[in-house]
Amino acid sequence: MRKVRAAVRFACLAGLLSPTATPAADIGHALLAPDSSHDLHDAREPVRMPAHMAARQKANMRHHLDIVSTVVAALGREDYPAIAAAASDMGTTPETTAMCRHMGAGGPADFTTRALAFHASADRLAAASGTQDRSKVLAALGETLQACTECHARFRQEIVAPQP
Ligand code: HEC
Repeated sequence: MRKVRAAVRFACLAGLLSPTATPAADIGHALLAPDSSHDLHDAREPVRMPAHMAARQKANMRHHLDIVSTVVAALGREDYPAIAAAASDMGTTPETTAMCRHMGAGGPADFTTRALAFHASADRLAAASGTQDRSKVLAALGETLQACTECHARFRQEIVAPQP
């Protein structure tokens, strides 16, 4: 920690004193460089996976956030069919089940359990939209978001070399 602070101080000083100010990206690099403890004191449990799977998982995650944003916008318009369509896009399918098992294989069993429970919550969100009842949809969306945040609070990715 002291090393990181020293690096920040150094980077700030370098930025102030040198005529060629240190660009922000270099400061970020200086923060990571000293002893690059790769978890940066992140106490969450690692889910180990090779880089290509980690990139895929993050792309899926960005898609989930996109879907949640679509659901909220559709709820604002009370467009229940659009909510159903968006929620189904992150619902349970044989493909998502297989992928969650595959991605979770490098972590505690709980990761896959939570991942499957998350998709099941999206199924309930899609079903709730069929009631056309705003408060039921909001309650179901709340449960889905809780599945997102609980998993993020507990797990992080850790990149490992691919299995031969
Ligand atoms: C079963 C676990 C799990 C669930 C459920 C989950 N995520 Fe994630 N998500 C992760 C992990 C693991 C990461 C990588 C975090 C890390 O290593 O710091 C991640 C990363 C992300 C990121 C960052 C992507 C990037 O490009 O860096 C976003 C955005 C995200 N999740 C959105 C969501 C949203 C929205 C939901 C719910 C609708 C959700 N996630 C549900 C496990 C989960």
